Amino acid sequence: MDASEVARNWEANADAWTQQARRGVDVFRDALNSPAFFSMLPPVSGLRGLDVGCGEGSNTRNLARLGARMSAVDIAPTFIRHAREFEKAELLDIDYRVADAMALPFDSGSFDFVTAFMSFMDMPDPVRALQEASRVLRPGGFLQFSILHPCFVPPYRKVLRNRNGRARAIEIGGYFESTDGRVDNWWFSTLTEQERSTVHPFSTPIFHLTLSQWFDAIIGAGLVVDRLGEPTAGADVAHAAAVLDETRIAPLSLHVLASSPRLKGQSSCRQ
Ligand SMILES: C[S@@+](CC[C@H](N)C(=O)[O-])C[C@H]1O[C@@H](n2cnc3c(N)ncnc32)[C@H](O)[C@@H]1O
Repeated sequence: MDASEVARNWEANADAWTQQARRGVDVFRDALNSPAFFSMLPPVSGLRGLDVGCGEGSNTRNLARLGARMSAVDIAPTFIRHAREFEKAELLDIDYRVADAMALPFDSGSFDFVTAFMSFMDMPDPVRALQEASRVLRPGGFLQFSILHPCFVPPYRKVLRNRNGRARAIEIGGYFESTDGRVDNWWFSTLTEQERSTVHPFSTPIFHLTLSQWFDAIIGAGLVVDRLGEPTAGADVAHAAAVLDETRIAPLSLHVLASSPRLKGQSSCRQ
């Protein structure tokens, strides 16, 4: 599957995704995944940043609210339209563009940092996307991204539950198989049966890599891994939704902080 077909799928998801995400249905993102991402993120105030696969812009806005000067790209024009419209309600001066992460429309070394929240595994050539992220970083800059966890969300995954509905184990399979754009149809897990009968499921093409393939791609892009994160819900929030409860058995996402090597003699200060 190529980028234009991926774009068609995401374009078809974009209106409903924006509406649902903005009314708080994406509990995994809002209650666990983004807070964990931001707690690992180095300081960004005053830095020039790029958010890759920004969707409707929620996380890009949070980066801008921390004082970063943000640009953001997404392949689906409707996501970018919704993100730009939000600027009317809250002006954060974010430069949103419709663009393919595998061919970024920016000069090399343009950014102090790059982020990608749950988007690289949705791209036909994540190796190329990582190379592009690395190319637009200045020496000493950093990339932080989250992806579906390659070990615990491989091509086959089933959550096994106790009689009371709590997750007790995850059954996985197909770890060494490629999905090459297999289209998964799904709703945000907190939508009720009644709500599901009124909206189409999302159709998302997925491109699975193994853990070692991800690390080969990061290292091959010339980056050095600094930190990893595997968010798990605390007992206080786990009960709020099944998707959070599942992360107490095994993580749903993997977070990676990596940096572009500094030039010889360059100061160690991130700014
Ligand atoms: C799971 S959504 C995440 C959206 C957003 N980052 C968030 O956290 O809410 C994945 C996003 O990646 C975008 N995407 C997929 N392939 C892309 C590509 N080749 N270039 C840029 N964006 C892409 C999709 O359109 C979608 O908005």
